[in-house]
Amino acid sequence: MIKKKVADALNEQINKELYSSYLYLAMAAYCHGEGLSGIAHWLEVQAEEERGHAMKIYRYLVSQNARVQLAAISAPPADFGTPRRVFEEVLVHEQTVTASIHHLMELAVKESDYATQGFLGWFVSEQIEEEATAQEIVQRFKLVGSDSRGLYWLDRELGQRGR
Ligand code: FEO
Repeated sequence: MIKKKVADALNEQINKELYSSYLYLAMAAYCHGEGLSGIAHWLEVQAEEERGHAMKIYRYLVSQNARVQLAAISAPPADFGTPRRVFEEVLVHEQTVTASIHHLMELAVKESDYATQGFLGWFVSEQIEEEATAQEIVQRFKLVGSDSRGLYWLDRELGQRGR
């Protein structure tokens, strides 16, 4: 049986993952407004992935016979300045999510909760990938600079992301 302290922290993580989904959806909407439907598509897929992360934790809590408690999701910003700024914010956001997952792991270790440690292993690996992807896209934006043709091709490329 999972300890309440651990279940509470996992419930908070559900909220963070749902906020991530909401944030990426807001970024997608902003990019649509900028005429960048490919980049918007990439962010919409990411928003769906984040909801999937929340659902993984939700299902884990249910499997542990723990109560799922959903809290209010904060409103994300509507304006992000520039498309490059969007991905700089994605990277910073993912770094905060990584820190949050690591805190959860530390708690599971402290509480000798081996099941939750095993469960969180997937998230630790996922965060390595999430940060690397965001970093790579930020680098692409740096290469493109103010070249609108480069932005056009980047938009096309990110629009290829599968669901
Ligand atoms: Fe659910 Fe992008 O971390």
